[in-house]
Amino acid sequence: MLRPQGPVAEGQLGLIKLAITIMVAVMLIVFGIAAYVWVKFRRKPGQNEIPKQVEGNFKLEVIWTAIPLVLVIILGVFTVQKVFAFGENYSSDKNAVKVKVTSHLFWWEFSYPDYGVTTAQDLIIPTGKKIALELKTADVLHSFWVPSLAGKTDTNTDGTINNAWFEASKEGVYLGKCAELCGPSHAFMEFKVKAVNQESFDNWVAAMKAPAVLPEEPAVAEVFKTQCLSCHAVGDQGLPVGPNLTGIGSREAIAGILLNAEGEGRPEDGKPIRDNLVDWLKDPQGVKPGNKMPAPKEDLGLTDTEIEAIADYLADYKLTY
Ligand code: CUA
Repeated sequence: MLRPQGPVAEGQLGLIKLAITIMVAVMLIVFGIAAYVWVKFRRKPGQNEIPKQVEGNFKLEVIWTAIPLVLVIILGVFTVQKVFAFGENYSSDKNAVKVKVTSHLFWWEFSYPDYGVTTAQDLIIPTGKKIALELKTADVLHSFWVPSLAGKTDTNTDGTINNAWFEASKEGVYLGKCAELCGPSHAFMEFKVKAVNQESFDNWVAAMKAPAVLPEEPAVAEVFKTQCLSCHAVGDQGLPVGPNLTGIGSREAIAGILLNAEGEGRPEDGKPIRDNLVDWLKDPQGVKPGNKMPAPKEDLGLTDTEIEAIADYLADYKLTY
């Protein structure tokens, strides 16, 4: 939040600075006057009479009502202006990239209606373009927040769609979080915004639209199709119930929180993606309590060998862009 990487976050930091400046100024003046009064009017040796008693001072009361009023109006005008500016709907702007954001317990779905592409957890965007968001939830109240780019914007449970937008000035991976207490894994409901140049973004869209890559080994492909693809989708196959897995090997993290060592965002605390996939598939509830994924071993009857084969396949399912 304090290191903004785009116009919306810069505007938000501007508001924070304005509010802090006003608050610090008020504090210094009030404490300064108080200190002056304590020293100047303290009881001096030999002073025993009761000081002059003052009740009411119209002029002073007007002043100390007017000053806060002016300060609140200044804060209010800038805040309201920014709130509306940042909630602006750019969906019909031809230069904007439209993204429909759907929050789920405990993951994020991103779909690009103009490109016919849906992904999860890594929101890939081009730099220097407005990203027009339409936000909704599939279950409970969540809130979309990318501290260095934009937010927070709630995803409502009453079916209303919230609009927001942001723009990343330069390439990079930015941490996103759910900012509304939503359940046992609220704290783990992370995602990444990956800003790339326009050419890479176009390549990514093309790679997402390519036919699905399935496991080469027929037995593994069979397990993957019958078990995994009954909830997940890859390319043109499967169902869009759980997170879309197309190109999952290129993602910054598994399940949003198991950081991939070869990723760009905070890779220093990451593990190889294949190991993260094994950790996740062997114990989804241990990684993210309360998530809706059935345990592949206990609930679906997969063997350790099958789980590892699927982890190998998913880790290799990378997109070049
Ligand atoms: Cu979703 Cu907190």
